[in-house]
Amino acid sequence: MSERAEEILCEARELLSRAAASQEVERLRVRYLGRKGAIAELLASIPNLPAEQRPAAGKAANRVKAELTSLVEEAAGRVAQREVAGGATFDPTLPGRRPPLGHVHPLAQVLEEIVDTFRTLGFSVAEGPEVELDWYNFEALNIPPDHPSRDDFDTFYVDERVLLRSQTSTVQIRTMERLRPPIRVIAPGRCFRPDTEDARHTAMFHQVEGLLVDEGVNLGDLKAVLHLFAREFFHQETEVRFRPSFFPFTEPSAEVDCTCPVCHGDGCTTCSYSGWLEILGAGMVDPNVFDAVGYDSEKYTGFAFGMGVERLAMLKYRINDIRLFYQGDVRFLRQF
Ligand code: PHE
Repeated sequence: MSERAEEILCEARELLSRAAASQEVERLRVRYLGRKGAIAELLASIPNLPAEQRPAAGKAANRVKAELTSLVEEAAGRVAQREVAGGATFDPTLPGRRPPLGHVHPLAQVLEEIVDTFRTLGFSVAEGPEVELDWYNFEALNIPPDHPSRDDFDTFYVDERVLLRSQTSTVQIRTMERLRPPIRVIAPGRCFRPDTEDARHTAMFHQVEGLLVDEGVNLGDLKAVLHLFAREFFHQETEVRFRPSFFPFTEPSAEVDCTCPVCHGDGCTTCSYSGWLEILGAGMVDPNVFDAVGYDSEKYTGFAFGMGVERLAMLKYRINDIRLFYQGDVRFLRQF
């Protein structure tokens, strides 16, 4: 009898010492100390013993019961402590884990920088939709249907009249329809062209458009504003030059170059040893555009410009593949 009691105690001690969860300890408590447990069974068998053995058997059973009770309590305490602490490996003296923090995307940084520079010159931000009417992307910009220059602005069409804007010049028209001169706005935003992706093209990209309209605005004003911008954006010694060009909505039109930010004009691989890099398109607002929005083209003059944000970011940070902006590779993005 007392041997059986010892056996139970031994087994229970072993199992309790290995218990790792409070449910397990509870299961063992029921198994040994419950109403139908091993000890209860043992006690119930005592009346069947010969009378002289009963007192010793009772004593043994009670001693084991008391010991088991304290073993269960001890195990319950140990397991509970570990569960609160969050596992055996928890060390409250270690510093906390820092959640990884992202930061502003390089393109968004450059966009912000461009916008800030023009803000200091008194330009305010205007916006327009990415899904546009033909009127804003072409017609009002002096690009009638069948005009060959439409081919220069390859376009995603939704239907005959609706398209994804291929340039932010749409916002020139929207702004002039909404406001009267004097106007001084920049319009950052997404544009879309069905280009095949390569190191310099993605079907979606960003532009910043500028428009200034007032009485007596001239080409010198345009040049001064763009020179100031280039110096702010690249470095203070940057020079700009205008090369004659053509845009249907500006007359005269120019491609604007700045001295290469890499070699400062001396010539290097970035600028193909010319010392100059094209940064944007610009010109004086064509009178036909003023007619389209009902401005008096005898009274007002203005200038407009449009620049590619990806291109400027690539020049500034010497990035050689536009696709890097859109691949989401944090090894690239982290560098900015
Ligand atoms: N919208 C022209 C382009 O996408 C750029 C431009 C804007 C040129 C404003 C002149 C004036 O190429």
